[in-house]
Amino acid sequence: MSRIAVVAYSGGLDTSCIVAWLKEDRYGFDEVIAVIVDVGQEFDLEESVTRGKAAGADDVVLIDRKHAFANDQCAKAIKTNALYEGKYPLVSALSRPVIAQAVAELALELGAEAVVHGCTGKGNDQLRFELAFKAHYPGVRVIAPLRDKIWTRDEEIEYAIAKGIPVVQTKASPFSIDENLFGRAIEAGVLEDPWNAPPPEPYAMTSDPLSAPAPVEVIVGFECGVPVSLDGEELPLAGLIASMNRLAGAYGIGRIDMIENRAIGIKSREVYESPAGIALIVAHSALEDVVLTKDEARIKRGLEQRWTELVYEGLWFSPAREAIDAFVDKTQELVTGEVRLSLQPNAAVVTGRRSENMLYAEKLASYGTGETFPHEAAEGYIRISSLETELTAARSRAQSRV
Ligand code: ARG
Repeated sequence: MSRIAVVAYSGGLDTSCIVAWLKEDRYGFDEVIAVIVDVGQEFDLEESVTRGKAAGADDVVLIDRKHAFANDQCAKAIKTNALYEGKYPLVSALSRPVIAQAVAELALELGAEAVVHGCTGKGNDQLRFELAFKAHYPGVRVIAPLRDKIWTRDEEIEYAIAKGIPVVQTKASPFSIDENLFGRAIEAGVLEDPWNAPPPEPYAMTSDPLSAPAPVEVIVGFECGVPVSLDGEELPLAGLIASMNRLAGAYGIGRIDMIENRAIGIKSREVYESPAGIALIVAHSALEDVVLTKDEARIKRGLEQRWTELVYEGLWFSPAREAIDAFVDKTQELVTGEVRLSLQPNAAVVTGRRSENMLYAEKLASYGTGETFPHEAAEGYIRISSLETELTAARSRAQSRV
């Protein structure tokens, strides 16, 4: 039986070198299949296929998971207001399980011996890929060539040229970039010194907020916590995210420059662009503000953070993540309504929210005439609430006298 390896292929330099390297017989495979999973990244299919074939792949397969990625991972991230360390909308962490699942399923179908990814030993992505591989192809052998042999960028470029693989990266562009529908993650190069300001070159989804156009308003419609329309026009989530990326990206919304704590314990400087991610999470949580009860909101906040950490650390396929999703989905049953956002340089500002299911009651909250708040009841509420405070204060006074 022929020995097959299936590679999670991006069409870029790293994974092209990996294909060529596997074909050099170092691991003893007869066939190397390169799989590109479409999660909404910008890529030239023809160019990627040409590069994969030039690298020696026996086949280059495209699997389209764009809508599945939007409707599953992106929708859940929005419902959970998922921001790792309060800032990062999990862009890469969301796409890895989708890519790995598609690769593992094909590998299983082909009876492949191994699945292969292009992550190094330093990052989070190796965890996300490998845990997802194991969830979908139990017992599969996982190969990580960039962990087995450490390559510099220049060595890779030299190797690719020697192998006849068309190379687009130049020595002047040393950034490592990961991209999908929900955003872009940019690392390395001058960013490695945290004092260096991010240069303009690697940005692609956002414009400089300093040259933004005049602010505009956009109304986002939600159904059960999921964005479903922009300015009244119903859109599939993948299309809605793409439109919001364009709209909010023009104002530099979703540019994030942060130092983050990786799962393996090192801090890294990361620059992200996620215009739709930030704008939709801001809008979604504004709608929750008027619909959820105080305790739903408080309990959810703690679980949002745990969900985000689980997903960041590669545990997408886990009972804990699913259990939190069950809680989140229960809270989202009535999160249907509209939020008005003003898109401004660097900020998506909420200027209005409405829902048929609002708990917000103007008659109770109002300071104007016609309000119905039972003022006399407040006095009794405070008398009871303050009993313990009075007792503990009296005890402190008595103790300080002895
Ligand atoms: N640090 C980010 C994360 O763990 C981004 C990793 C993406 N990889 C890259 N080559 N930029 O999610």
